[in-house]
Amino acid sequence: MSKKQRIDKILSNLGYGSRSELKKFCKNGLVKVNGKVINNPGVQVDVENDEIIFDGEKVTYKEFIYLMLNKPDGYISATFDKRDPIVLDLIDKEDLVFEPFPVGRLDKDTEGLLVLTNDGQLAHRVLSPKKHVPKTYYAKIEGIVTEEDIKAFAKGVTLDDGYETMPAELIILKSDEISEIELTIHEGKFHQVKRMFESVDKKVIYLKRLSMGKLKLDENLELGEYRELTDEEVKMIEERD
Ligand code: URA
Repeated sequence: MSKKQRIDKILSNLGYGSRSELKKFCKNGLVKVNGKVINNPGVQVDVENDEIIFDGEKVTYKEFIYLMLNKPDGYISATFDKRDPIVLDLIDKEDLVFEPFPVGRLDKDTEGLLVLTNDGQLAHRVLSPKKHVPKTYYAKIEGIVTEEDIKAFAKGVTLDDGYETMPAELIILKSDEISEIELTIHEGKFHQVKRMFESVDKKVIYLKRLSMGKLKLDENLELGEYRELTDEEVKMIEERD
């Protein structure tokens, strides 16, 4: 199936300029399709099969963008906030033209893996409560985390609003006054990890998301850094064992 669109729309969606700038660029002969200069910005082009050259360079078409951000503390997982910095403040202008948004939310003080995309269907599937995409977190906990907690989480605990959680897998990395754990949950209730620990009278003092589906946070990304996902990694978001 061919995907035909106006050349000015294609190039402006890819960040080459506004529609009016592209009109000028076309007039000035900067745009070529299949070797021919295109002066008319309304010409329909097949994005999958036609070769587009802008100012001497080949244009690679993509509709969707998929980014993995190592979210730092202090940023809101939203596309707008009146008061605080948002995760989109960490994204470069060239990538913002795709209008990515976060797939789900991490709390302002939670760090780690956050996927941003403009693929609404993928986001919808990943966030669907029916899908049970697993999410694994690393946390530091005030209080001694015990085998009892492992059992309680494996059965499901009751949150402050009466909600019974699905079974979750708790691994104790260190059991001390400040414990360290990994927790895998299969749903995404508001403040879920923090509230699960509250239900066993403990407090999360640091939280970081390590993975979503089979997609793991790239540990080479510093806090606040991001990169595009590979096609393979995009698929991994929805995969589970
Ligand atoms: N659970 C929480 O409590 N906070 C998050 O940011 C994510 C999961």
